[in-house]
Amino acid sequence: MGQILLVFLVLLTGCGSRELSPRTTADRAFPADFSHIRERILIPKCAPCHENFTSYKVLLDSMVVPGNPAGSELYSIIESDTMPPYSDHLIFEEKAAIKTWIEKGAPYP
Ligand code: HEC
Repeated sequence: MGQILLVFLVLLTGCGSRELSPRTTADRAFPADFSHIRERILIPKCAPCHENFTSYKVLLDSMVVPGNPAGSELYSIIESDTMPPYSDHLIFEEKAAIKTWIEKGAPYP
């Protein structure tokens, strides 16, 4: 019985250790990379009105200053809940993902 329990515990901790990473829960749910930001934020929440905002080139040409979230219109406009205009404002984790992505230098993808 003790042995079975031990095996069980080893399995449990073995499985658990794969989950260990320096990332937070929020990071896992909203990874700060362009493909996730595009799929999960820009397409559902911006593209209905701004179709071209799903383009990396358009964003970099007009609204994103790599390394500088405060200087990026994309971040200031979502951070202040100015966009989307009526509802469906970005939640904290979505804003954080965009901020981190810009801080990292807005890499593609
Ligand atoms: C329901 C439609 C709608 C949605 C959804 C929407 N926008 Fe807008 N957006 C507008 C309109 C309309 C304007 C023009 C507002 C004005 O000039 O007063 C605008 C203006 C902007 C501007 C100013 C520059 C420009 O192109 O005119 C930015 C930047 C912007 N939106 C970003 C976003 C982002 C980022 C999202 C998604 C998080 C978003 N918008 C979602 C309708 C929308």
